[in-house]
Amino acid sequence: MKKIVLALSVCCIALVAHAEFPETDYAQVSPDGKVAVASVNPEATRIAMEVVKRGGNAVDAAISVAFALGVVDGHNSGIGGGCFILVRLADGRILALDGREMAPAAATRDMYIVNGKADPELSRTGALAVGIPGSVAALDKLQKLGGKLTFRDVILPAADLAEKGFPISPALAERIAATADNLAKFPASAAIYLDKNNQPLPAFSILQQKDLAATYRAIAKQGPRYFYHGDFAKKTGRWMAANGGVITDKDFASYQMKMRKPIVSEFAGYTLYGFPPPSSGGVHVAQILNILEQFDLDTLAPAERYHLIAEAMKFAFADRAHWLGDSDFTKVPLSLADKRYAQTIAKKISLEKTTADIAHGNPDVDIQHLMNKHTTHIAAADMEGNWVAITSTVNTSFGSKVVIPGTGVVLNNQMDDFSAQVGAANAFGLVGSDANAVAAKKRPLSSMSPTLVFKNNEPVMTLGAAGGPTIISQVVQTLLYSLNDSMPVEKAMAQARIHQQWNPNVLFVEAAMPVEIQQALQKKGHDLKIWPSMGASQAIQLRDGKLVPVAEPRVILQN
Ligand code: DON
Repeated sequence: MKKIVLALSVCCIALVAHAEFPETDYAQVSPDGKVAVASVNPEATRIAMEVVKRGGNAVDAAISVAFALGVVDGHNSGIGGGCFILVRLADGRILALDGREMAPAAATRDMYIVNGKADPELSRTGALAVGIPGSVAALDKLQKLGGKLTFRDVILPAADLAEKGFPISPALAERIAATADNLAKFPASAAIYLDKNNQPLPAFSILQQKDLAATYRAIAKQGPRYFYHGDFAKKTGRWMAANGGVITDKDFASYQMKMRKPIVSEFAGYTLYGFPPPSSGGVHVAQILNILEQFDLDTLAPAERYHLIAEAMKFAFADRAHWLGDSDFTKVPLSLADKRYAQTIAKKISLEKTTADIAHGNPDVDIQHLMNKHTTHIAAADMEGNWVAITSTVNTSFGSKVVIPGTGVVLNNQMDDFSAQVGAANAFGLVGSDANAVAAKKRPLSSMSPTLVFKNNEPVMTLGAAGGPTIISQVVQTLLYSLNDSMPVEKAMAQARIHQQWNPNVLFVEAAMPVEIQQALQKKGHDLKIWPSMGASQAIQLRDGKLVPVAEPRVILQN
């Protein structure tokens, strides 16, 4: 339990108080008011604004942020990882681009089992932890679908930044220090983040990444071919063979970005588009909101409301553990997101007392077709009608900790998002069933929840979050407060957050929650665990005809 809390809180950033949002360097609108961007890093947002100045739209801006974050925020996301992209293009199309990592062809169900037990070290650190990265393929596809500039135009500013270097922030320095022992195991990783004595680079020293710059330049010149069919794939295959990995250059060549069908649902008079499997985000954001709307939300006392949200989350995460996985490999009942299924769950919820012993439910799979009528987060939008939501990750801090020599690219440890063994928890304490078992070419289940919101068929909000399974909870709460309670999105994001993921059966609560509400929740039977702060959300809202970008105040306060 202690370890799980620790792993979950890795995603959480210390917060002293929830301030109202100042206009920040993290969330900016172009001087003409036509393009808005929100990211977790001011350098990345600045690069996006440069790209806009050169004629780029929201799509170009978002892609340039993704590449820039790989430079300044490489412990969280980058081209060695994967992403989900939800985009509403100016022509009205709404598309879900799946750039999730894929397991290598040699992956097997029991590859992480040692002496009958899942060994978390194998799926989290080193060669076997790595899935085939999908971000380059998905970003390239996005560029072709809706960008005004070229792929080259949106990569090169980040390459220049990698070359020139930037001062390490105190937050990044802390992450490097916390991971230094594992980074030291891989010489190319140590060469970037540690000094000659294997000591972590301190805050405010300059981090230059010449290899990463060269990799970016090669992709800018040759396109994704360089990554999936060229030198990058070959170098990686060779390193893996020599270091106990199973990934080959052929795995890179056979990587496929997939177009998915978004999860569509209705809440408080708005239409939500969420990301479908292999993410669990779209399904469970819709499911939780569907459960909440079965109650008269406006008359509930604050503690009752938090209780209800926690109960709805618990039921949803119980279903996640049983039903969810890559839908190309397992049948995922999308009727989990059906309103009629939510009614059956709502009947089991008492407003007085927390429900003990929740098992997964049995959504009626026959009503699946009903859904067909109708899922570091980067938010970008422009007045031409392009709305972008990209959630991108290398999974836990610095992913697998592996950098293939000569590339500068931090490789993910997304294989840990598979269920290594039924009942064995991953880094976030999540358990899973056969639906999320490891298999060749399968994609590990995710909680990433890029979301687009529409009113009368017009886009009004793009949002998403970072923070493992708390992503789902953050997105739900932002939507609840902004859509049902009509709060401006910055106020919605500033509310004290909670998270309940069924396993462990604990209610995580931000310290900013008033003590009397905490006590009322305890009285209802919740086992409370207080966190200083939870998550990192980004959003853009259309308000009075203007784009309002908002970056996570919890991150800003910490940097
Ligand atoms: O896809 C997922 O759900 C996770 N790999 C996301 C990891 C994450 O958000 C890390 N943040 N703390």
